Amino acid sequence: MGPTDLEGFQEARDLLASADTVSVLSGAGVSAESGVPTFRGEDGLWKSYQPEQLATPHAFRRDSRLVWEWYDWRRGKIRECRPNPGHEALARFALGARDVRIVTQNVDGLHEEAARTVAGGSDADPAMPLELHGSIFRVKCTSCTYRVPHRDPIPTESFDDLPKCPVCGSLLRPDVVWFGESLDAGVLSEAFRVAQSAQVCLVVGTSALVHPAASVPLATRDGGGEIVEVNPTETPLTPLASVSLRGASGEVLPSLLDGLE
Ligand code: APR
Ligand code: ZN
Repeated sequence: MGPTDLEGFQEARDLLASADTVSVLSGAGVSAESGVPTFRGEDGLWKSYQPEQLATPHAFRRDSRLVWEWYDWRRGKIRECRPNPGHEALARFALGARDVRIVTQNVDGLHEEAARTVAGGSDADPAMPLELHGSIFRVKCTSCTYRVPHRDPIPTESFDDLPKCPVCGSLLRPDVVWFGESLDAGVLSEAFRVAQSAQVCLVVGTSALVHPAASVPLATRDGGGEIVEVNPTETPLTPLASVSLRGASGEVLPSLLDGLE
């Protein structure tokens, strides 16, 4: 059985084919086939810590070395990962004739890498994602406005090794949004604006448990549009979706979006 045999496949294709404006909301599932560990589920554990115990301002204040060690481990894993056919299909779709905007909860940079690869030498901007939760390959100062791309390993042997701000000397931290923190207001309002005006919101690989990101597709419904979901399992968004395709994004998206560029 291939992706085109999935229940609802044709309905999902028809919805996307007749939409001029599409917003995409992606989550960790879109990168699962690239080998990036998801947060929830079997491989979501690191040394028996839950992400909720590490990805918080409180955890960083209590033990910044431990939190940086976890991030350095995740950064190392993600550096070895390449975009999969799901990222690439989304990038081709976004670079095509339709008005498509990719909104992602992922911090792994794989949508961006796929955009550049698929665009080749030409303009990759239309396929560049709005990153709701920041980027794991940027660091920012815990005190001042210093913020910079950073891909290399972080030394985490002792507190003194941790990276410090070259401007004010304070501790640097990953430029990601932690539990209990606010999302960047500009990025968030842009995501809701895009979703509100979209005829279809394509929701891929998210458990839809973390808000406000999980509310983005609701804006599409409020604006009179429809939700198409791609996820192997049911989520809180499933009852609101016009159609849910129960498959892996790396397999489903290339067929689903083929010819809709
Ligand atoms: N294709 C599509 N979906 C998949 C695949 C796949 N190959 N594999 C797993 N999934 C689905 C799972 O069924 C699950 O619903 O991806 C989802 C992953 O859920 P989470 O791990 O909760 O990831 P996400 O929804 O992105 O988490 C949201 O939580 O920890 C925070 O900030 C972090 O951005 C993250 C946010
Ligand atoms: Zn600083």
